[in-house]
Amino acid sequence: MSRWKNFNRREFLTTALGAAASFSVLPPGHRLIGELLEPQSRFAPFQFPEEFIWGAATAAYQIEGAWAEDGKGESIWDRFSHTPGKVKGASTGDVACDSYHRYKEDVALLKALNLNSYRFSISWPRIQPDGSGAPNARGLDYYKRLADALLEEKIRPLCTLYHWDLPQKWEEAGGWPNRDLAARFTDYADVTVRALGDRISHWCLFNEPWVFTFLGYARGAHAPARKNFADCMRATHVVNIAQGQAFRAVKAINSKLQVGTAFSMANCQPATSSDADRQAADRAHALGNVWFIHPALRGEYPKAFPGDNPLELMGVKSGDLELCSAPLDFLGINYYLRQLVSAIPPGTGEDTTGVHHFDAHEGPLTDFAWEVWPDGFHDLVFRISCEYKTTPLEITENGCSYLDCPDEHGRIPDERRIQFMRGYLHALGRAMLHGANVRAYHHWSLLDNFEWAEGYAQRFGLTYVDFRTQKRTIKDSGHWYSKLAATGSLT
Ligand code: FCB
Repeated sequence: MSRWKNFNRREFLTTALGAAASFSVLPPGHRLIGELLEPQSRFAPFQFPEEFIWGAATAAYQIEGAWAEDGKGESIWDRFSHTPGKVKGASTGDVACDSYHRYKEDVALLKALNLNSYRFSISWPRIQPDGSGAPNARGLDYYKRLADALLEEKIRPLCTLYHWDLPQKWEEAGGWPNRDLAARFTDYADVTVRALGDRISHWCLFNEPWVFTFLGYARGAHAPARKNFADCMRATHVVNIAQGQAFRAVKAINSKLQVGTAFSMANCQPATSSDADRQAADRAHALGNVWFIHPALRGEYPKAFPGDNPLELMGVKSGDLELCSAPLDFLGINYYLRQLVSAIPPGTGEDTTGVHHFDAHEGPLTDFAWEVWPDGFHDLVFRISCEYKTTPLEITENGCSYLDCPDEHGRIPDERRIQFMRGYLHALGRAMLHGANVRAYHHWSLLDNFEWAEGYAQRFGLTYVDFRTQKRTIKDSGHWYSKLAATGSLT
């Protein structure tokens, strides 16, 4: 069965249907590019360029708390987490890491980690409590204070305008499948960048458009918990229009602002060397990785279905692809794992992708059961840099969940995260040696935080958060990363 209808977020990215049993060895003839290029020097010392940017990432709903403070409106994630049965442990983001009140402490952590970029997001309903109109000054002030605190420490603010917390009001008007949302989002981008564009020069319009449209509208595992593949596909088109229009709106305010999006990406490998599986892997790459890049940079949708792309179902009208076109200044890559892909007969319903994804379990698994396989990162970054040669890349997220807790001395010895980072950063270094134009790496995440439908059951932070006291403690991995960030030298 295809993932589009049957997988939740964790399965979407990870374990599926006995995959380990059905796939234990890569078929002959299918070698990873990373392995082919440099078998002997996977861990050769690598010096990142001096100007390379080192950062960490978070998102508003996952860390801010203060869910109803200073005039903030309700978002779809407030509604979702307040609905019994939606989030593990009945957890909510009402308090989360309380960063709305503790942002200075968080900036001090970034400083202690020697980082010079912080990727955070703005909560749309803090700025426009019911989705439109004049901005809420108290909401804007919070982000002004945050940006100023960062700038004072010479940390670049990299701000995401939409990391999934849609004003509930717009969900009630139909949500992302409603074409009006493109104009609503553009208006929000316009008022926000007008107010903050003097301090914040780097913007991500969206975080992971494929994840929030698919998991929110097709699978129902995330807010707003709808389950309709046609709605999901319509939502993808509206987001593509929104991306193009908001890009132009932001550039009209100041053409020097740098504008991109953070795209979720997985390295899609064919499960066998058959033509059918290879084609399925290409379709998976088209839909999962570049569905929101190709329209912007190439003015067309990539081929993601065995037959024609379902443009009518998506509500594509003549002239729309011009609206989607936007010469993004950079491509953000959020990378967590690879996926193996096989061809299946296209579903009988609306799901006609003819793709089955599942996970390899050749590498070790994190505590979230995501496979650790750095070569996949190399291959994906290298592939994107070949496909979109002239656009610089930023790694906007990469990380792992391990549940290590403080020991009797209060130290958090998370050796597995250090190994993870070492492997993935070596892979990134190799991709750069092979020509990938990558200018930044942001680790997900600065802090342990609210992990969507998983609640607080996963810990992705470089910093341990005790959610009872809000005490923050830098983990061993954070100390390791701070040394790398200071020297750029990976040994
Ligand atoms: C990404 C999300 C981010 C976080 C990490 C673990 O897909 O963008 O908010 O949940 O996964």
